[in-house]
Amino acid sequence: MKLHHVIEAQQFDVPTLSYLFKVTEKMEQLVARGGTSDYLSRIMATLFYEPSTRTRFSFETAMHRLGGRVISTENAAEFSSVAKGETLEDTIRILNGYVDVIVLRHYEVGAARRAAAVSRVPVINAGDGVGQHPTQALLDLYTIRKETGVVDGLRIAMVGDLAQGRTVRSLAYLLSKYKDVKMYFVAPPLLKMKDDILSHLRERKVGYTEETDLQKVLPEVNVVYQTRIQKERFGDRTADYERCRGVYILNQDSLKLMKPGAIIMHPLPRLDEITREVDEDSRAAYFRQAQNGLYVRMALLTMVLASEPSSRRR
Ligand code: CP
Repeated sequence: MKLHHVIEAQQFDVPTLSYLFKVTEKMEQLVARGGTSDYLSRIMATLFYEPSTRTRFSFETAMHRLGGRVISTENAAEFSSVAKGETLEDTIRILNGYVDVIVLRHYEVGAARRAAAVSRVPVINAGDGVGQHPTQALLDLYTIRKETGVVDGLRIAMVGDLAQGRTVRSLAYLLSKYKDVKMYFVAPPLLKMKDDILSHLRERKVGYTEETDLQKVLPEVNVVYQTRIQKERFGDRTADYERCRGVYILNQDSLKLMKPGAIIMHPLPRLDEITREVDEDSRAAYFRQAQNGLYVRMALLTMVLASEPSSRRR
């Protein structure tokens, strides 16, 4: 099964997700054996206009584990010709002459779609502002399957910055494809889940509730998906940020309310919204979740690189 651009979570159907996760399991085994050199002739560009630890390093590690090569700019706004006024579209056109796949993180919603519109080679959205982060949602879903054994029938609490959180937006789209899922959106009033997602869930008849009392929700769910209140998204609205931060913190008392088989996830980075002592509990899945990002991104790369190398397509 081939993929071309990876732009948004809605583009994946359940058979494609099942296939991706089968390939992902093979990638876990491949990494355990030390990787492969099968993709020696393929080159990936990582073009990042926003900071990243997990997404950029895991994509780059994924390409190295497949035997491919990587060119990268971690601060494209400063260290590429964007600093001289070059457009995103022209940058993408130029990279098309050099590489086989482009992984793009950008601060503007829709940037990945704009890039894909002018790109012959696959563009992978590694986060577009407050829009989407589809590859994070894929690794989240893989983690949920692996850790809890269920997706149909899942009960999940999404907590924190739901209005500006691209990871929860993409995950809600993906989960809406499965049966009998119920989502509990727990957020301060200023950061409630946006109506485009809620309308999508209503159209698909997916169960959801909007909550403010996290303690009431914790005993109900299989997954608690905590997120950071993202200071960088508030701009000069510092009073709003202060009003929202610290409202929902997961600590040892939260663990006592959770089911024994439930897990805590977080896309990371975290600040104080999960206290450090929670890390010791086996239900704290967030570091395993980040590790899964490597395997899922290896699987995605094999699927988008299944077509001819760009050098032969010209
Ligand atoms: N989860 C995530 O996107 O992390 P980074 O910002 O470190 O890539």
